[in-house]
Amino acid sequence: MNRHRMQAFVLSRYGGPDAMELREIPIPVPDEGELRVRVMAAGLNPVDYKLREGGLRLINRIDLPVVGGFELAGVVEALGPDVRRFDVGDRVYARVDTALLGAFAEHAVVHEDFAAVMPRSLNYAQAASLPLAGLTALQALRDELHVGPGTKLFISAGAGGVGTLAIQLAKYFGADVTTTASPKGEDLVRQLGADVVVDYTAGDFAAGLGGFDAALDLVGGETLERTLGIVKPGGSVVSIAGVPEPQTAVKDLEESAWVTAIFWTMSMSIRRKARAAGIRYRYLFMHPSGADLRQLAKLVAEGSLKPVIDSTYPLERIADAFIALEAGHAKGKIVVTMEGHRTM
Ligand SMILES: NC(=O)c1ccc[n+]([C@@H]2O[C@H](COP(=O)([O-])OP(=O)(O)OC[C@H]3O[C@@H](n4cnc5c(N)ncnc54)[C@H](OP(=O)(O)O)[C@@H]3O)[C@@H](O)[C@H]2O)c1
Repeated sequence: MNRHRMQAFVLSRYGGPDAMELREIPIPVPDEGELRVRVMAAGLNPVDYKLREGGLRLINRIDLPVVGGFELAGVVEALGPDVRRFDVGDRVYARVDTALLGAFAEHAVVHEDFAAVMPRSLNYAQAASLPLAGLTALQALRDELHVGPGTKLFISAGAGGVGTLAIQLAKYFGADVTTTASPKGEDLVRQLGADVVVDYTAGDFAAGLGGFDAALDLVGGETLERTLGIVKPGGSVVSIAGVPEPQTAVKDLEESAWVTAIFWTMSMSIRRKARAAGIRYRYLFMHPSGADLRQLAKLVAEGSLKPVIDSTYPLERIADAFIALEAGHAKGKIVVTMEGHRTM
């Protein structure tokens, strides 16, 4: 292969699976404050296909074509001007810039503020599985739900990419954790520390549950509505899969007044239900953060957090990885690895 070009999984238009394809394109050049990373592995997330389908156009206005992929692990191979924190050869992991993406490629640029040295004990696939889901779980539990010792916490969909990390972080903060899983996910969520597991495929998961101080909703829709019914007055529900509300636009996305107004309208019904139950409702859109990745690395080093990998695929089989992701049954994370592509 040409040394100035690389394999990348490119989104060229909004649509179904055939809207993304592997292509050979130029290797990116790092700008001010940016690192170029030789990508060894990249994590897949539901946001990858939501973006492909055009579902994020209101809040993530990117110029197509774009290399997809929100998170990666690899080795720093070049530095743009004014990089202070990293050197060539550092093993790093990152949730890349929402507006630039680029993780599904052999090389990617990422701003140094969004990267951290990856946990030493992990391989690249494990490290690449952590940034997006790990930051989401950390920011929701620590910053929005203020989970601490004795918090009675409900987490829906504990066996997925975010859920497997959220359970571990919630236990680290000292919470008492109830989660939902199908029979196929039950052993996993128990091993990760869940105190109570409810089989959501056996009927209404909320029947028999109640009195929670806080809930993290990873499903949205009817699950979110039922979750409002099991949290006690004065408690909080944070969703990452339900309906965005005005604070999402203002606090997470720094969006315009008209996006704030759209979110206000979209969330009217769920906010009214939450208010009637005396509960605070918040939809969180996670943000990239090198500082928070350093915190996650510390927890991995201490043994308080471990990645859960559902499956790994080589980059040339990324279309198959997307089929598995979109089936919606991952236990932990799906990851693609680039090591087979090395030519130098
Ligand atoms: N707002 C944000 O910043 C943000 C960040 C990250 C993720 N998200 C969103 O959060 C959601 C979860 O993400 P993820 O990465 O964890 O997804 P995921 O890994 O694809 O989730 C799959 C898991 O969810 C379980 N599941 C599916 N429906 C369920 C239900 N009704 N009740 C309980 N478990 C259920 C499945 O279990 P079974 O197959 O065993 O049934 C499977 O193990 C997605 O919608 C994603 O887009 C948002």
